[in-house]
Amino acid sequence: MNPRRCAILREMGLAPLWRLRAPAETVDADAGIPELPPEETPGPDDGHQRSSELAPPADASRVVAMDWQELEETIRTCRACALCEKRTQAVPGVGDRQARWMFVGEGPGAEEDRRGEPFVGQAGRLLDHMLAALNLKRGEDVYIANAVKCRPPLNRTPGVAEIAACAPFLERQIALVRPRLLIALGRPAAQALLGQEISIAAARGKRFEREGVPVIVTYHPAYLLRNPSDKGKAWEDLCFARRLVAEGA
Ligand code: URA
Repeated sequence: MNPRRCAILREMGLAPLWRLRAPAETVDADAGIPELPPEETPGPDDGHQRSSELAPPADASRVVAMDWQELEETIRTCRACALCEKRTQAVPGVGDRQARWMFVGEGPGAEEDRRGEPFVGQAGRLLDHMLAALNLKRGEDVYIANAVKCRPPLNRTPGVAEIAACAPFLERQIALVRPRLLIALGRPAAQALLGQEISIAAARGKRFEREGVPVIVTYHPAYLLRNPSDKGKAWEDLCFARRLVAEGA
């Protein structure tokens, strides 16, 4: 690898690319990988729990007219799906509300649930490195949100119904930010943005569109932490993203 590429990847926290992987690792390139705190053990949660305390989903026709304050308040008090029952708090999003770059992840993890901010755990540190490699940083020309705003128990992948319940919120965030480019991190995020099932491997390097806003997909940082040999591909995706933004997307 040439020294310049090596330096850039190091800046992203991507080097060394040759780190040995655990032999029994199972790889799902399409999802974020759960970062389970040691105290958690799996319990029953099929993503379809019902509770008498659930409320109807936010009325999309009301959400489309919300300003930031009302939107975040509505997200924080939302009880439209079972994810509300185990959350510490909902995690609306963070960053520059006039950003050109908008990154969309899957859903809050344990640390995000505690702190109320997306991507503040291990995967978030890698995302920050990825931003740094693009000369970007959280909060400056970058907005970060998730497909679902409440933590799925045990960091399981959010279900289709949960993504759908949160969709008006993500939609309104996009409409308010009006980014030049949307970057889906992992398959659930791509599904939320594109409304279709895709595989990351097949969708990388393509320019999708969502209501006039270009969308690209790449690996979720949690996946990259487990599969550092794919970090080079993520870097290619970010270079593609940078070109799109520079061209006015
Ligand atoms: N993974 C995500 O998809 N989102 C977060 O906010 C944190 C981890």
